[in-house]
Amino acid sequence: MGDLGEFDSSFIQALEHRPKPNATEAQGIPLIDLSPISCHEDVETNSETDAASIEELVKQVGSACKNWGFFQVINHGVPLDRRQRIEAVAREFFAQSLEEKRRVKRDEVKIMGYYDREHTKNVRDWKEVFDFGVEDPTLVAASTDPDDDSVAYWTNQWPEYPPKFRETCEEYTRDVGKLIMKLMELIALSLGLQAKRFHEYFKDQTSTIRLNYYPPCPSPELALGVGRHRDNGVLTVLAQDEVGGLQVKRRTDGEWIGVKPTPGAFIINVGDIMQVWTNEAYRSAEHRVVVNSVKERLSIPFFLNPAHYTEVKPLEELIDEEHPPKYGPYVWGKFQVIRKRSNFIKLNVDNIQIDDFRIAP
Ligand code: OGA
Ligand code: NI
Repeated sequence: MGDLGEFDSSFIQALEHRPKPNATEAQGIPLIDLSPISCHEDVETNSETDAASIEELVKQVGSACKNWGFFQVINHGVPLDRRQRIEAVAREFFAQSLEEKRRVKRDEVKIMGYYDREHTKNVRDWKEVFDFGVEDPTLVAASTDPDDDSVAYWTNQWPEYPPKFRETCEEYTRDVGKLIMKLMELIALSLGLQAKRFHEYFKDQTSTIRLNYYPPCPSPELALGVGRHRDNGVLTVLAQDEVGGLQVKRRTDGEWIGVKPTPGAFIINVGDIMQVWTNEAYRSAEHRVVVNSVKERLSIPFFLNPAHYTEVKPLEELIDEEHPPKYGPYVWGKFQVIRKRSNFIKLNVDNIQIDDFRIAP
């Protein structure tokens, strides 16, 4: 984006979506201390004091998911240097010339890698990204056709520079991968389910990690780093640096609230699949990223996604006569392929979304 002269109109948001100059900073987004579980491999425990503190934690997670769909966690067990190391290699990678970065560029065939032309709701985002799969290769659906069940693989592309880029990313993936599954156990417990209820969906997970780089923007009042959206997977664990810019739409009044960076914390948000699984007990929250004219910003989301063949529908345990299903089933892999393709074809219609599977009341 450094190659832009005058401000490119493809980045300009419609008036009603432009950021306000003085956004409110969040007090409301819950901050949850994970120390009761951070020293255990999973959330099951033997001692009574542990049991009481875990029960309390489960309550906090449940109410954060219910009321916000967003929270931050501290004392999460991921060592600080893991995070500092991935941030350092990410900064070195993005500091290279466009030509260097484009050696690992993503296209219609190579889904993972570097990309600087992402659009959200058909407006270009002021950012550059580098994507890689948590499983390498990632087993995915080959076709969007419901009758075609052939499969394909996404393979990671790794740059030669900076050195240790790949192993640094892989170490981060391992540690945050453990954290995210512990969070899924807490969420399962908060819904009255067995702790490991969700594990079966992640055997062939299609999760990805993204390095988001937001360069300083000459017109931050017109553009967004990422336009308003909901994450379409299960759960997102995001590391953000100290600059700030992530905003969440508050449910009570529709106000955009800035998520103040908390050193060392991860931001957790509920995705659309969780919304469907829980039949809207937990809902995904709309969020976006504002940019600024002086500081670059880095963020690293881990998008937890199930196996491509997962049929997403409200969990049977949460459905009864009083709680009829609000969604019909859809196959995650088909949805995912449609979304990935839409990055390369400019659509004049709204992209596929979970609302398409909503059952009219
Ligand atoms: C995303 C996203 C937020 C951020 O990449 O989906 O919402 O703070 N990122 O970068
Ligand atoms: Ni997001």
